[in-house]
Order: sequence, then structure tokens, then C-alpha cells
Amino acid sequence: MKHHKTIFVVLISILLGFSSMAVAKEGNWKKGRIYYKMVCSECHLEKAGGKISPSEKTKAEWLDYFEKNIHGPQDAPTKYTASYFVSKEYRESIKNTNRAAKKMLKVPEDQLLEDVKAFLVHTAKDSDQPSRCE
Ligand code: HEC
Repeated sequence: MKHHKTIFVVLISILLGFSSMAVAKEGNWKKGRIYYKMVCSECHLEKAGGKISPSEKTKAEWLDYFEKNIHGPQDAPTKYTASYFVSKEYRESIKNTNRAAKKMLKVPEDQLLEDVKAFLVHTAKDSDQPSRCE
């Protein structure tokens, strides 16, 4: 009897483990929105001549943007990679002046990348709810 209980507990742990992995992979657009609005847009407003709306690109264009991993216009990319701006290194560098970066300091880099991606795709030009004012 005791043995059965152990097997049961092990099975449940494995199942829970798998489901949280699935969530981590998928990306949480609500968290991505906070980061995009408070970190990406803050700099765009100041240095890119205005906010860059998620609805400027289609879902495929956003995915391609992260696939290529260059940051800025395709024909004139900045010296950074797209993923640099979600890196711990970058969050660390702005944590004293940016509350979102500070709050999300511990989020793993690939997780945050998925979150931001999920947000941009969620509100892309060809999505059900294109966002113009982020
Ligand atoms: C420290 C400043 C800064 C941060 C942070 C930043 N960007 Fe940018 N970004 C820029 C600048 C400057 C440009 C414009 C470059 C140009 O026009 O030559 C730009 C351009 C872009 C473009 C190009 C738009 C186009 O013309 O196709 C995209 C897409 C973009 N950024 C995405 C992001 C995302 C996503 C994040 C956050 C994860 C981010 N950026 C964070 C400074 C920043």
C-alpha cells in the first residue's frame, strides 16, 4: 500500500513538471506586455522617435524578427541583438531607473523572450486585437 502511494506521488510530480514546462515554453503575453511597455517602449519613445506599435508587423514578421535576432530596422540594424534587451545583463544595467526591469530581474532570459514574443504576436497587425498604442 505504501508503495502505491509513492508511485502515485512520483507520477503526479512528473505530470506537474511537464505542465509547468509547457507554460514556460508558451510565453505569457500579459507579462510580455508589461515588459514591452515599460522597457522596450520607454527607450523607443526616447531614442527611436516614438513608440513602436506591435501592429506595425504581422505575426510572421515578429517571429522572423526574433528568429534573425537583430534589433532595429532590417536594412539598418542597431549594434544590439533582439534578445539583448531581455537579457539579465540589460535588466541589471537599468534596474535602478526602471521598475519593471527590477521587478523582473530574476525571470529567466528565454522565458522573458517568450513572454515578449507572445505579446507582440498576440497584438500583431493580423491578430484579433492589433495594438496601436503600446
Ligand atoms: C536602449 C534603447 C532600446 C531598447 C531598450 C529597445 N530598443 Fe528597439 N529600438 C531602439 C532604437 C534606437 C531603434 C531605432 C533604430 C533606427 O531606426 O535606426 C529601435 C528599433 C526597434 C525595432 C525596429 C522597428 C522597425 O523599424 O522595423 C524593433 C522591432 C524594436 N526596436 C524592438 C524592440 C524590442 C522588442 C525591445 C524590447 C525587448 C526593444 N526594441 C528595446 C532602441 C531600443
